[in-house]
Amino acid sequence: MLDNKTLQAMRRAASTARRQAYAPYSGFKVGAAVLAGSGRIYAGANVENASYGLTICAERAAVCAAVAAGERRLRAVLVAAPDAAPPCGACRQVLAEFAAPDCPVYLTAPAGRTAPRQLRLGELLPLAFKFHKP
Ligand code: THU
Repeated sequence: MLDNKTLQAMRRAASTARRQAYAPYSGFKVGAAVLAGSGRIYAGANVENASYGLTICAERAAVCAAVAAGERRLRAVLVAAPDAAPPCGACRQVLAEFAAPDCPVYLTAPAGRTAPRQLRLGELLPLAFKFHKP
């Protein structure tokens, strides 16, 4: 699993990003951090829109930041959301594009001192869709 120092760094990154979340409609602020193949950490926050369906989740924002920096593999994911909410279904599928089923996903509550809940991506999204060219 992850060493404590990396986990704390991911927690800090997610929490810093969460403070920048743009959530004027729901008031539900989310921050996410991904540990990429290079060992670098990328963060994202949710960005809502007046046309609600255009909202971007924090997890997908973090994945996009990592991919735009040239990363193609995710080693761990951490989400900071009220009540330690887990990623939505769409985000699980996007994470599965770059992370293996055994990739750890840590769920944390903002400013929480409690230990994060740890799951595997494969538990959150069994049978992820994979595209195989016919
Ligand atoms: N949200 C995320 O950022 N990640 C998720 O996995 C679930 C939901 C955001 C979207 C919206 O801005 C707010 O939480 C309420 O749905």
